[in-house]
Amino acid sequence: MEITVKTGNLLHEPSDLAMLATFEDAALPSEVTDLLEPKDFRGKANETLLLYPRGAAAPRRLLLVGLGKREAVSAESIRRASATAVKEARRLQVAAITVAVNGDLPLDAEVAGQAFAEGLDMGAYRFARYQTGLANEQTFLVERATVFSQTVERTRRGAAAGQTTARGVNFARDLVNGPGYALTPAVLGEEALALGKRLGLKVTVLDKAQLTEQGFGGILAVGKGSINEPRFIVMEYGEPKKGTPTICLVGKGLTFDSGGLSLKPPDAMETMKSDMGGSAAVFGAMQVVAETKPSLHVVGLVSSAENMPSSNAYRPGDIVKTLSGKTIEVLNTDAEGRIILSDALFYAQRYKPDAIVELSTLTGAIIIALGAHATGMMGTDQSLVDRISRAGELSAEKVWQLPLWDEYHAMVKSEIADLKNIAGRAAGSITAGAFLAAFVGDFPFVHLDIAGTAWVDRPAKSYDVHGGTGVGVRLLAEFLKGYV
Ligand code: BES
Ligand code: MN
Ligand code: ZN
Repeated sequence: MEITVKTGNLLHEPSDLAMLATFEDAALPSEVTDLLEPKDFRGKANETLLLYPRGAAAPRRLLLVGLGKREAVSAESIRRASATAVKEARRLQVAAITVAVNGDLPLDAEVAGQAFAEGLDMGAYRFARYQTGLANEQTFLVERATVFSQTVERTRRGAAAGQTTARGVNFARDLVNGPGYALTPAVLGEEALALGKRLGLKVTVLDKAQLTEQGFGGILAVGKGSINEPRFIVMEYGEPKKGTPTICLVGKGLTFDSGGLSLKPPDAMETMKSDMGGSAAVFGAMQVVAETKPSLHVVGLVSSAENMPSSNAYRPGDIVKTLSGKTIEVLNTDAEGRIILSDALFYAQRYKPDAIVELSTLTGAIIIALGAHATGMMGTDQSLVDRISRAGELSAEKVWQLPLWDEYHAMVKSEIADLKNIAGRAAGSITAGAFLAAFVGDFPFVHLDIAGTAWVDRPAKSYDVHGGTGVGVRLLAEFLKGYV
């Protein structure tokens, strides 16, 4: 979408659809109050009202969107109001909209500009490439938005940043929404090469022969049962330099998780094309990094495989020798994410990173714990955990920490190998995190379990749409921005 920022009064500028975001506790201008019964619209968060000013104000249509109380307003309020405006524009087939806040917004102008742009571009997202004969409303593109602001320069700078982030989010969503047969590990590898070529990242993709030669036993074991062979993907921005922090972003890239021989029941398998949501977040974040060029060295690492049952699949009882040399007793082939991630996390150590941040749709147990409202977080270094928490607040991608105490590490020890890949139902998300931590050495490490947040069936937030959410991209973008 083309986003313009300028000064002026939204009510005095002609527009086919103007969105005025309003506080619950601030007076509306008389042009608006004249059009309305006050009790019909109070400005509560997410409340909307569509008005037809008929000359009482310049816009043809005026959409009021509530922001709630002024003191409780955040960037997230603006993000949601903007997305609501886009969705209404699409419904009404309006190609160019105007948006503004009524009264003083208690936010930094750059932060607000970013939130406007993120809401507009995330709200405009659709995954329509497999639909035919769509009604215009569904294919309609909102092409332009004008944001009215009194601090144009800062708002404009924020909007540019927001558009970059939203593009990263939508890229991640496209990857997640791609069906398993179309988005195989090989295709994910090609996506990485294309991204590298487009934006100047150094990209290496290891195929099965190279994985075998170099000993990526975890990825190979999980990928064995599928004709779609596994890949390991390295995307590098910047280079190691004294004084420049090195950050490794690691993603789980299961392009489809059937469970393998420990086959999932049909209901649980329905959305398992989204089991590469962690890798999608890494792709989206690497795109943002390549476009914003921070003074960092950022390495994206993705383990990608398809988990399938077949006569060649890995079995319960198998013992897998990973890249690290550590062995894993496989008791359930559906706990495959931690196995392929073990190789990527060990690989990350070669960069001597200041931080390893790993994202994976790892456990159903995290959905039991936190629902769809927050990403589970575990870490070995509290200052890194705190940085991610802060990024979670700034991006409104909620994260919630769970402990990684010694007792949990003890639970994943095997009788006959170094580790076992399941440890019972109790503390299922934490034992998975403890398992991963065995492969990062002493490097600061955070694990983000996005099983509950990477996919949404019926969106609760106006900027989400059915399917992949692109969770992690905004979080990582804020984290990296704050790291410099
Ligand atoms: N990809 C799943 C986790 C998942 C579940 C993601 C639901 C998104 C929604 C993962 O590979 C898995 O199957 N985990 C098992 C682990 C168990 C066998 C210890 C699970 O959570 O049931
Ligand atoms: Mn699984
Ligand atoms: Zn999985």
